[in-house]
Amino acid sequence: MELDTDIRETARGFHCNLCNVNMPNKPSMDDHVKGRKHQKLSTVRATRKAQEEHSVFVSGFKQSTSQADLADYFQKFGPVSEVIMDKDKGVYAIVEFNEKDSLQTVMSQIEHRMNGLKLRVKPREKKEFKLIPKKKKDYKNMQEISERLSSELCQTASVNEQMKKLVERLQLRDNEKKARALLLQLLQEVFKEFFPDSQIHLFGSSVNTFDIHSCDLDLFLDLENTKIFQARARSSTEQVGEGTSDDARSEDSILSDIDLTTATPAEVLDLVAVILRKCVPGVHKVQVVGSARLPVVKFVHRELNLQGDITINNRLAVRNTRYLQLCSQMEARLRPLVYTIRFWARQKQLAGNPSGAGSLLNNYALTLLVIYFLQNCDPPVLPTVDQLKDMACEEEECVIEGWNCTFPSQAIAVPPSSNTQDTYTLLAAFFSFYANFDFASSVISLRQGCPLPITAFLSRSGTPSPVPMEGTKPSQERPLPHSHGPKLGPLNLPDPFELSHNVAGNVTERVQRSFQKECQEAEKYCRSLQYQRKSTKGKVWGVLRLLTPPGDGPRKTPAADKKELVIGIPFKAAPLPEAVRCQLHSAGDGFRLLWFQSVCSAVEEVFRNILKCSPPGSATESPVKADRGAKSETAMDTADAVFKTPTKSAVEAGFDRASSSSETSPRVPAAVGGKRALCSESSDASMSPQEKRQRLDSSPRFSSQSWTWVQRHKVWAGRRKVRRELLKGVVDVGPEGSSAQLETQVTEHIVKTEPEEKEPLEFRVQAQVLGGTESTKTVVKFRTTNDRAGLFQDFFHFLEVFLPKMADTLLERPVS
Ligand code: UTP
Repeated sequence: MELDTDIRETARGFHCNLCNVNMPNKPSMDDHVKGRKHQKLSTVRATRKAQEEHSVFVSGFKQSTSQADLADYFQKFGPVSEVIMDKDKGVYAIVEFNEKDSLQTVMSQIEHRMNGLKLRVKPREKKEFKLIPKKKKDYKNMQEISERLSSELCQTASVNEQMKKLVERLQLRDNEKKARALLLQLLQEVFKEFFPDSQIHLFGSSVNTFDIHSCDLDLFLDLENTKIFQARARSSTEQVGEGTSDDARSEDSILSDIDLTTATPAEVLDLVAVILRKCVPGVHKVQVVGSARLPVVKFVHRELNLQGDITINNRLAVRNTRYLQLCSQMEARLRPLVYTIRFWARQKQLAGNPSGAGSLLNNYALTLLVIYFLQNCDPPVLPTVDQLKDMACEEEECVIEGWNCTFPSQAIAVPPSSNTQDTYTLLAAFFSFYANFDFASSVISLRQGCPLPITAFLSRSGTPSPVPMEGTKPSQERPLPHSHGPKLGPLNLPDPFELSHNVAGNVTERVQRSFQKECQEAEKYCRSLQYQRKSTKGKVWGVLRLLTPPGDGPRKTPAADKKELVIGIPFKAAPLPEAVRCQLHSAGDGFRLLWFQSVCSAVEEVFRNILKCSPPGSATESPVKADRGAKSETAMDTADAVFKTPTKSAVEAGFDRASSSSETSPRVPAAVGGKRALCSESSDASMSPQEKRQRLDSSPRFSSQSWTWVQRHKVWAGRRKVRRELLKGVVDVGPEGSSAQLETQVTEHIVKTEPEEKEPLEFRVQAQVLGGTESTKTVVKFRTTNDRAGLFQDFFHFLEVFLPKMADTLLERPVS
């Protein structure tokens, strides 16, 4: 079957040659094969193949020959279904027959002649079907702009000027603004016809002072007054009988179909879509997206080549757009910073989801990250949102959907910042700030201008307590109108007004990690002379190097590519069981150590029980025998033991001891019934300078633990096959690593059926918790102490995926 040739097994799962995608495991591969993309491409390929097999390539005819002439000629060999001429007519054509056999008949004739000329007729070349990814128009535009900008920016005298020039080149030109204004006016007129007293407001990049050539047109259709109009018109119709006024005619035409006070947003937007399609010239590709957080109608204006989004019930977006405008008015350095950072983030594929949805940061979130950084400069460049609220006068008070959105309407009401740093210094500081930011353990609060501890959001209600993290600015009392906190994820950035909405809630762990990694790279670059000084040899310098897409930068030296044997297990609060979240919540600042203990127990559980490693010198006897029968209970014990034992004070005590002497040994309480084949330590020997720095910075939030294990079987080889066999007939099983019990059985099967290695593998595992100056995570380092058979590379390769997944599975297990 074709399917078999499309999918191949790889070291990391499966690869689909047709769609050019990787899948980590069989269930995701099965899903992919059943999915829309794969099915569609399979159909397209099948159609193309059939066309190839049914058609011939013809050339050598007169220029004046038409498709009909060719069809006439070839009809005698069999019914012709289609003749396709090339663009510059007369050079070649493809003649397609209804039946495959016709092809044989055509080819069996030695010579073909038409109008006195000899035709060249040959079967179609069999081309391999290849998916050619469509280049995203937006991205291509940016590429072109960046190419054009490149030489211009190279010529400027300073980095500050480069950033200024970037704004000038990217922002909307006057004629583009006029065109947008005309479209807005047209829309306003059309909608007023159908929705009397309605108003259209612009929000987002067209008006928030961060506009660029390709930016879309975000519109809010305000129907509040139309609702009043409708209610009035209805009651007057009831009183007078037949409506004869102009207003009532409008009511007859469209509003009679819908009651705006009871209709769902999707119903209203369907109506908006009909009006757009039928009544606004130049508008096409109208589409209602009812599944979005805020349902929206998307459209494209053909002549202006402009994409637009219309939402209803979106007053908060208009208000937060006003907030961004105010920030730009207060602080002239904001625009060049935001433009540069947005461009950088787009080039590094960190921000700017093409169709709105996706796992990258959206531009609004990125802009908020810049503002938050400016609130945290010393002295601050921008005030916090709470401070702004206090600067507003009574008339400026604004509450939308229960959220306090008060801030001054004019920048003049805000005292200027005493920070005098250059824009280019601030840019470097932005990268440095987020390069060393603990995303996993913080909730970024623009209202208070400081990180709130994630533990404050882990209790049952999820209501954020307004207590800032240690060493940050004091909080201001601000009661929350809504009871639930934002959806927690790898990047927690609540909207400054709608506090229950995490504007970076779509960001995946991979994107958050890339964001931080790119900040670290940029931070390093900004320290170099190449960033600070113009090249006298015309080389790329200043911000330009930051704006190159990934892969365009200088090649890494082999030393830089050398892979360390390290696996990271990031802290993820959201999927933990409620009881565990509550414990972490009560542990306050000591949550890292508490969590680290649980990770250590999980790591130990993976090696000891699931992968059947044994302590060195423990026995020549297979460990599977020793542990048989106890496997699943032990795994369960682990989760329980870890989260049940330490109280807040115990954690703090352990925490203190850990900080007092990094040289002394065990300070992490034993987790699994004292069975540990390990020693706990805080050795500096294997730490990189960067980690040492982090350790100093974050001390005392640090601890480490190590084990030495022996593995006598290749338990990593052939697991997928064993799983398949064990799971025959079972449906709905999760991906590899999602069941401790199953993975233990897989190992047991391998241990039982495969011969023992003559030279067992012995290796050392060291776990450390990091955080505070980077995202909280456990790093697990590996070193072989005996690998004469050269087994470890393969084992490590397997562990890279298996260990974090398995650890997550154990940590997420409900505590009984
Ligand atoms: P975008 O992320 O599209 O930002 O959000 P943008 O500045 O318009 O950038 P482009 O269009 O990608 O160039 C558009 C607006 O939607 C609102 C904000 O008002 C933002 O300015 N928005 C977006 C929210 O209120 N919340 C969100 O989570 C996202």
